[in-house]
Amino acid sequence: MPSDADTRLADLVREVRSSPKYAQLSMQLVQNIAAKELQKFGSSAKALKATRARLHQLTGAYLTPKLNYAQWLDNFKALPPGDSAALKATASAMMRLHNSTAERLPTLDTFYATCLKSLGAINSVLDLACGLNPLAIPWMPLTENFTYQAVDVVEPMMAFIAAYFELFGIQGNATVQDLSSWVPTESVQLVLMLKLVPLLDQMDKAIAPRLLEVLNTEHILLSYPLRSLGGHAKGMRQTYTQQFEKLMAGLSYTIQTFEYSNEIAFLLSK
Ligand SMILES: C[S@@+](CC[C@H](N)C(=O)[O-])C[C@H]1O[C@@H](n2cnc3c(N)ncnc32)[C@H](O)[C@@H]1O
Repeated sequence: MPSDADTRLADLVREVRSSPKYAQLSMQLVQNIAAKELQKFGSSAKALKATRARLHQLTGAYLTPKLNYAQWLDNFKALPPGDSAALKATASAMMRLHNSTAERLPTLDTFYATCLKSLGAINSVLDLACGLNPLAIPWMPLTENFTYQAVDVVEPMMAFIAAYFELFGIQGNATVQDLSSWVPTESVQLVLMLKLVPLLDQMDKAIAPRLLEVLNTEHILLSYPLRSLGGHAKGMRQTYTQQFEKLMAGLSYTIQTFEYSNEIAFLLSK
């Protein structure tokens, strides 16, 4: 028989997911956050409010609500085959709908080319908390037969990315995984952790160090935002540089730093 605590958690999770905005999120993530908030507040009403607020901060704040993925897939299907300018134009238009990729658009022409220059063409990528970043594949220096694994917590977005991979014959997969309770084990040449660490730290400061310890890769491109979603800089460069230095303590990577107006990126190489 389920305990009282189990029943209260199941009720809270059901209530959170009764809203379409949160129904599209990984069940695991909703359960993890709901369990913490229930423990903190005891009261279901306060825990419900807090769980929704935290899920919004982690995911909803970034993504345009009610994104029509089927329409966007049709837009990609309608592109003339082999027209890379048209593909980049459509991909850029869609990346505008996720704040994180939208912020990177002004520097996208140089971002990957510069940060990954020292690696040559890359054959395998794992993109953690990817958002719509797999749409930036045409800007990345990749080998002809590269593989690409993409992970995030937004279910319809990952279904769209999987369909996008299939449409363009990209080898790889797009899966729903909550990085607070799942660790990737596959071996890849490059892992992307773009603007991810501050979110993981919001959940639990132990997650990012644990991930770095287990990742089976030669290189990691890790970045931090230099502006908040509201557009303020608020000393973020100094704060995140210090946090990054703390995260690196005891790890032996060669580090290259790349700074843009709204993002600071570090390429870590073994
Ligand atoms: C700041 S955005 C970064 C997106 C992308 N990496 C980029 O830089 O363009 C954070 C992303 O993390 C995802 N996310 C939040 N919590 C997560 C978790 N626990 N596990 C996996 N992804 C998560 C969100 O859905 C969102 O797409």
